[in-house]
Amino acid sequence: MSYLKEKILKDGVVINDSVLKVDSFLNHQIDPIVLREISNEFLNYFKEKEITKVMTIEASGIAPAILVASELNVPMLFAKKTEPSTLQNEKQFATDIHSYTKNITSRVIVSEEYLSADDKVLIIDDFLANGEAALGLIDLVRQGGGEVVGVGICVEKSFQPGRQKIIDAGVDVFSICRIASLENNTVHFVEE
Ligand code: G4P
Repeated sequence: MSYLKEKILKDGVVINDSVLKVDSFLNHQIDPIVLREISNEFLNYFKEKEITKVMTIEASGIAPAILVASELNVPMLFAKKTEPSTLQNEKQFATDIHSYTKNITSRVIVSEEYLSADDKVLIIDDFLANGEAALGLIDLVRQGGGEVVGVGICVEKSFQPGRQKIIDAGVDVFSICRIASLENNTVHFVEE
C-alpha cells in the first residue's frame, strides 16, 4: 500500500460522506515523505510525455506541482484566483471555475506570456472531486494553443464525476489514490 494511502487511513479525517480532511499531511501541514512519493509516482507515470511545463491552481496544488517541476527541470505555472496588480496591464487567459463544494464561481487567470502553442503541459492537483478545477486548467492551456499531456491527482474521490469529465475532454488522468466511498465515517479505496 502506498504511503499516501497509509497516511489517509491513519491521519485522514472523514468530515462527512463527501469530504476528507487531510490537513495534517497534505492541505495545511505538509509531510515531505508524502510529497516525495507523490512526485515519484507522477514522474514514473508521465515520464515519456516530453513535458515542458507543470501547471496547477493555487493554493493546495502548488506543493506537489513544484516538486514534480523541479525533478523535470521545467517551470511550474499556477493559475491565480485573484488578479495581482502586476498582471493588470498584461494580456491574460481567463476561465470560470465553479466549486460545487463552496457553491461559488471564480474567475481564474494566467498571463498569456507563460502559455504557448509549443507547451506540453502536465496538470497536477491535490484533490479531484467534480473536475471543475482541472477542466478550467485544461481550458487555459488550450486557449494558449498548447497540449495537455495528462492530469495527475493526489487524491481522487471516484464517487464524484471529475475523472469522467476529464476523460470526456480527451485527457488522460492518473490518480495516486482513488477513494470509492467515505460512507459510515470510513475510507474505502477503489480496488486496483
Ligand atoms: P473540483 O475542482 O474537482 O470541481 O472540486 P470542488 O469544486 O468540489 O472543490 C473545491 C475545493 O475543495 C478545491 O480546493 C478542492 O481541492 C477541494 N476539495 C474538494 N473535495 C475535497 C475533500 O474531500 N477534501 C479536501 N481536503 N479538499 C477537497 P480549492 O478551493 O481550490 O482550495 P485550495 O486549493 O486553496 O485548498
